[in-house]
Amino acid sequence: MRTRTISNGRTSFDVSTICLGTMNLGTRVDEATSFAILDRFVEGGGTFIDTANNYNAWIGGHGRDSEDLIGRWLADRGLRDHVRIATKIGAAKQDPALPLSNTAPTNFEGLSAEVVHRQTRASARHLGVDRLDVLYGHVDDRETPLAETVGAFGALQDEGLVGIAGISNVATWRVVEAREEALRQGVAPYGLVQNQYSYIYPAPRAGRLNFVSHDLLDYADAATADGRAPLAITAYSPLHQGAFTRGDKPLWGGMDHPSTHARIALVHEIAREIGATPNQVALAWLLGAEVPVIPVVGVSSVAQLDESLGAAELVLGPEVRARLDAETDAAPANAKPLEATAAA
Ligand SMILES: NC(=O)c1ccc[n+]([C@@H]2O[C@H](COP(=O)([O-])OP(=O)(O)OC[C@H]3O[C@@H](n4cnc5c(N)ncnc54)[C@H](OP(=O)(O)O)[C@@H]3O)[C@@H](O)[C@H]2O)c1
Repeated sequence: MRTRTISNGRTSFDVSTICLGTMNLGTRVDEATSFAILDRFVEGGGTFIDTANNYNAWIGGHGRDSEDLIGRWLADRGLRDHVRIATKIGAAKQDPALPLSNTAPTNFEGLSAEVVHRQTRASARHLGVDRLDVLYGHVDDRETPLAETVGAFGALQDEGLVGIAGISNVATWRVVEAREEALRQGVAPYGLVQNQYSYIYPAPRAGRLNFVSHDLLDYADAATADGRAPLAITAYSPLHQGAFTRGDKPLWGGMDHPSTHARIALVHEIAREIGATPNQVALAWLLGAEVPVIPVVGVSSVAQLDESLGAAELVLGPEVRARLDAETDAAPANAKPLEATAAA
């Protein structure tokens, strides 16, 4: 698999262009299948693995299931130096007796300096590693002063316990402010952002800030201006959990609108024409974009992984890319012309 370099301006290393998401490994996916998926990912050239310190408490796990499983797999296979591990902190349960929620009250721990330092060390212990290659804040925390969070991530990168820090589920302006704050403090800035992103796009909704926006892509593209550190984007739910091909997977999160249906139809049409699968076309669109992103692909079987790995080398020709891009600009079939809307 091809690689790309990620960096916070001080520490840089290469990762595979596809990242393996492990949210359900060790809970919904049993240990033998999880090990087989991790083995196959490495055989296929994958080197970038994504987990978190709350996977998967959303579905009844204790929250360290995925980190613990990866720790056992690394120890068993002796592959520590072969892969780059990313984990996330800040969205584990503050009160263990309560569930997690994406809406207030979330029960997230947040990103105070105390949480960042304590949970980073705990993640390293659970993973059985002495260095976390990538550490994300799992969710933005607006209750804690930004300077405190940035300082804590900076100290961990200085110390070497963390290679490159990042932030997830975040608005672009907060990323910009955090990176400027890192400059002021003289510490390494975030080098990665992880938000949701795929070829289908949600209807706008006030407060939806966790999707990769055009603003974020533009900022990442321009991030190195004036000698500033690069910024890479990793994209979760890049296949919308199977919704491109499966009737049993709902178009959640504001995705069920005419543009989505047109985009999915086009992905199928192009897949038939070029002899790929619709999921591979959707992933190749992300991988080969003008501002490329790193899809974080979650799977529950080796067969699903093989399909995604097949996208890693799929390069969409300019004519195909232009058609896919044009569909993202197209008005939904039921949209009124602008003049009609304005006059109404
Ligand atoms: N930063 C964040 O807040 C955040 C949020 C969500 C996820 N993530 C990360 O991103 C990763 C990916 O997230 P995700 O939302 O895609 O979810 P996911 O729950 O990890 O899994 C995606 C699901 O999509 C289906 N699928 C995958 N490949 C398929 C294929 N080729 N054909 C048909 N169905 C397929 C499978 O469903 P079935 O098992 O039902 O077959 C699979 O379990 C996660 O594992 C996690 O590491 C991060």
